Amino acid sequence: MSELSAALVAWQTVQGRNNLPWQNSSDPYKVWLSEIMLQQTQVSTVLGYYERFLTRFPTVQALAAAKDEEVMSLWAGLGYYARARNLLACARRVVNDHNGCFPDTVEGLMALPGIGRSTAGAVLSLASDIAQPIMDGNVRRVFARYFGIHGFPGLPVIEKQFWSLAQAHLPDKTTVRAYNQGLMDLGATLCTRSKPLCMHCPLSGQCEALKQGTVSELPTPKPPMVRKHEHYRVVLHTSSEGVWLAPRTGRGVWSGLWMAPMEKLAEPLEGQCLVHELTHRRYCLYPVLQSVAAELPDSAEGGRWFALPLADDAPVPACLPRLLALSGA
Ligand code: ADE
Repeated sequence: MSELSAALVAWQTVQGRNNLPWQNSSDPYKVWLSEIMLQQTQVSTVLGYYERFLTRFPTVQALAAAKDEEVMSLWAGLGYYARARNLLACARRVVNDHNGCFPDTVEGLMALPGIGRSTAGAVLSLASDIAQPIMDGNVRRVFARYFGIHGFPGLPVIEKQFWSLAQAHLPDKTTVRAYNQGLMDLGATLCTRSKPLCMHCPLSGQCEALKQGTVSELPTPKPPMVRKHEHYRVVLHTSSEGVWLAPRTGRGVWSGLWMAPMEKLAEPLEGQCLVHELTHRRYCLYPVLQSVAAELPDSAEGGRWFALPLADDAPVPACLPRLLALSGA
């Protein structure tokens, strides 16, 4: 056993969480149910739901026979409802295709709805002492710090590294349960995101981040979105009739709203601009005021005049009143 797994297993046995209701069960159904509930939800929230589910559906056969609506209403409040739909679909597959027995391989489990590689590893190791690794946010944090791995864990190359480390340090079947549970427990109780309790940590002697003073930097946060900048001149034709607007067509962000004519610019302009942030674009909008006689500007077919100031319920993008103000209209 590696130093990591030995220290972790010894710690988990004494200091880890060993009294959660889904623990110490060799029933894959119970472990699977808890793992699906714990995927995006805290232990404290899951406890009540888990007990109610298990009382109502003590076996995978009972769950498979349930009406969709009953499962959805028992799930209500846990969130991420795709999990509940997959839960039922999975139970029915286990009953119809597998004789009511959960498969005993990672591949077999992963072929079922809602079961990814980590959930498969958790079901096999926690219920049946089969040596398979797991990976979740807590485990990634422990590995990033212990091995001093820099790089956002969402990157496939970093994720691969975490899985190979989890595999490389996996002990045999006699202690794999304590190893996997220990990784989760350590991440949840000592190796926390903020204010980690390194002085109590069984791995502190070998922790790379602790040695380097980089505990608070790891795991590397998600890099901020790089937005492409786009520059537009927004021509505000104004007259005694108001401002000239035309309906936006197509699939753009302002589709269906009325907007002033826009021209894409190759370069930023001098002068005032209004920044409009979208998910992956930054629009820099340069308002240009053009007083015209009250007749249709050629460039804006399909448009019409809107009286100024714009009515509160005018069907325009929220940035248009600000552009008008910026331009002095
Ligand atoms: N989160 C996911 N699986 C868990 C488990 N078995 N114990 C505690 N938290 C978990």
